[in-house]
Amino acid sequence: MKVSVIGLGYVGSVTAACFAEIGHEVVCVDIDENKIKNINEGISPLYEEGLRDLLLKYAGKKLIATNDYEFAIKVTDVSFICVGTPSAKNGSIDLSIVRAAVKSIGAALKTKEGYHVVVVKSTVVPETTEKFVLPILEEASGKIVGKDIGVAVNPEFLREGKAVHDFMHPDKIVIGAIDRKSGDLVSELYRTFECEVTLIDPTTAEMIKYVNNSLLATKISFANEIGNICKKLGIDTYKVMEAVGKDFRISPKFLNSGVGFGGSCFPKDVKALIGKAKEIGYSPILLESVIEVNEKQPLLMIEILQRKIGDLRNKKIAVLGLAFKDGTDDIRESRAIPVIAELLRLGANISAYDPTGSEKMKRVFPTIGYSRNAEDSLEGADACLVMTEWDEFTQLESEFEKMKKKIVIDGRRIIKAKNIDYEGLCW
Ligand code: UGA
Repeated sequence: MKVSVIGLGYVGSVTAACFAEIGHEVVCVDIDENKIKNINEGISPLYEEGLRDLLLKYAGKKLIATNDYEFAIKVTDVSFICVGTPSAKNGSIDLSIVRAAVKSIGAALKTKEGYHVVVVKSTVVPETTEKFVLPILEEASGKIVGKDIGVAVNPEFLREGKAVHDFMHPDKIVIGAIDRKSGDLVSELYRTFECEVTLIDPTTAEMIKYVNNSLLATKISFANEIGNICKKLGIDTYKVMEAVGKDFRISPKFLNSGVGFGGSCFPKDVKALIGKAKEIGYSPILLESVIEVNEKQPLLMIEILQRKIGDLRNKKIAVLGLAFKDGTDDIRESRAIPVIAELLRLGANISAYDPTGSEKMKRVFPTIGYSRNAEDSLEGADACLVMTEWDEFTQLESEFEKMKKKIVIDGRRIIKAKNIDYEGLCW
């Protein structure tokens, strides 16, 4: 089939490349000339495992990029909206980019003959597609949804860093279609996968995405709260969760306690669901607690630090890990951000290190020290805080010898070194 993909962020570029890999012809649309040029030359606009290889294989052949909506819509049967849905100031979602994309698709559809399906892949709160996207699309295109054109929601469940793998090995495909015809057409795109397709209405599909992320976030905050209680009782929370996770109804995944969840999805999506619930007159106390636990968790690192070394003024603190998780350079909502902000407020000197995230963190904290490796960061430090679960930190041993005091506070339970003054956040 012929597919257009609007927006070349990590979801859009992965979706485009993977659609090419499973046999479709793909036209990508973005407003960023640089991204378009890169994609057409087979250069990945961002780091995602496996993406580079797919782009090199298909760029200029089954996959092209353009800023020309009209062309992209005309030559394809279906368009996927993969643009960002950032948080507005009050935590609810900002739909201005979605609106602009829908308007442009609508304008291009005006002159197109034949059936076309518009699919919302961007994460949008329940009711957005039917109450927001659909009327804008009808107005901009002059066409009638359900008659001239189709509409569907197809949420993604792609982890950053593992998005290509997750796309190619889905454990669920959810298609929320406005009518049978749209649903069948979108299902057809995925026919090479053995995975079962959940065909449902658009609003339920939107909700599935939020519930998926909110439940995973809830597992983490739950594990963190249990971890905090276990620590006070002298119980190893990881042993507790290992046993609890053996229950097939629970699973051991996402029960690792530590400094909490970051990234562009969990915090934003839980907050957006809270916003939506409040908008319809419901007070979501559990979801609010998930966020509250997650916001308090990184600051517990500072409490331990102060208990160990007292006043932080002019103390050198090594912060290991700036990315929100390992395998990415994304620092959005990284748990290192509130920790660095608090260290600065308390007058500490910071030497930070991350294998990939330093450049992006420099835009947030331009004045702190950044090291080229963990060893340099630890040199002469009064203490070290481990914020991200990078594999290379598990190997650190002799590097800690460079510290003034070998105090290591681990927020991810990954440090294996002996002969250090070690304390875990929840263990
Ligand atoms: C998440 C979901 O896992 C994807 O399914 C979803 O498609 C994506 O959001 C999205 O909505 O686009 P991602 O944000 O890439 O993917 O990150 P995860 O790998 O899920 O990790 C999220 C955070 O939770 C990280 O900060 C990680 O360190 C933390 N985490 C994870 C824990 O603190 N404990 C755990 O046990 C697991």
